[in-house]
Amino acid sequence: MRVFVTRTLPGTALERLAREHDVDLWPGDLPPPYGDLVARARHADALICLLTDRIDRALIEQATRLRVISNVAVGFDNIDVAAATARRIPVGNTPDVLTEATADLAFALILACARRIVEADRYVREGRWRTWDPSLLLGMELHGATLGIVGYGKIGRAVARRAAGFGMRVIYATSRPADVSADPARGAVQPQPAGLDALLRESDIVSLHVPLTDATRHLIGAPELRAMKPSAILINTARGAVVDQPALARALREGWIAAAGVDVTEVEPVPPGDPLLDAPNLTILPHIGSATTHTRARMAGMAVDNALAGLRGERLPHCVNPDVYE
Ligand code: DGY
Repeated sequence: MRVFVTRTLPGTALERLAREHDVDLWPGDLPPPYGDLVARARHADALICLLTDRIDRALIEQATRLRVISNVAVGFDNIDVAAATARRIPVGNTPDVLTEATADLAFALILACARRIVEADRYVREGRWRTWDPSLLLGMELHGATLGIVGYGKIGRAVARRAAGFGMRVIYATSRPADVSADPARGAVQPQPAGLDALLRESDIVSLHVPLTDATRHLIGAPELRAMKPSAILINTARGAVVDQPALARALREGWIAAAGVDVTEVEPVPPGDPLLDAPNLTILPHIGSATTHTRARMAGMAVDNALAGLRGERLPHCVNPDVYE
């Protein structure tokens, strides 16, 4: 059967796929333009796609041979899952394997913002370092600071475990019942639930770990940024659209908050000239939360496993729309 894969993947998973199926691999290192995506998907029995590919209703309706859509990501906001479900096409994702890598990156951003790492690096390279100075580049001490985690799923809890090691107080806001079984080890101060308003008011650092849905789009806008402490730091390793980006740029420029660290933006790549790029005290990364060699190879392997199962007519190991099996 024919599998359209929208970009080459790290590791050996695609070789495994090619042993069983005809792989139509999009050449080059940029995503297929939408027209090509639709054209190739129309001839495919399976689609392995990335978060950069818009798999919308129009595409799904034209791809009449499609038996499975497998996203190489845990998030699946790029896919119209309702349209896939209507056609009884299972949609796969890659949960769990990227939890620790993404939590590491969230913590890297927390440290970078709290201790002004990027600014300090620039300071040295620009030849501005004249002497050890008691007042130079003072930052926020993590020990004793309050970390507010918005979205207390697997990644949020993995960030909480790291924070416990740094001696931070952790509070969290969640709309779903929290599974606290993976909370910091016994003996550490346990994270406490809080409403979003209280969390924003009390936290020294707010870290976002919610999926992008209609309910979370612009969850953090101007009123929420204004509710934060002027000394606070906002971290976003979830999805760019969870934050109202022009409001964030304004908040940084006008000092509503002290700093932000973002791995994700509303439009990716962030367009040159976007006001966010000129905002002070911003550390910005190119969506690399899961980018470790180990994690990306595992994500590719899981995506191939989902595609292979779908092509065999079996239940996907990781399916986001299990109603297709009812
Ligand atoms: C995901 O998987 O959703 C991340 O954003 C990319 O790894």
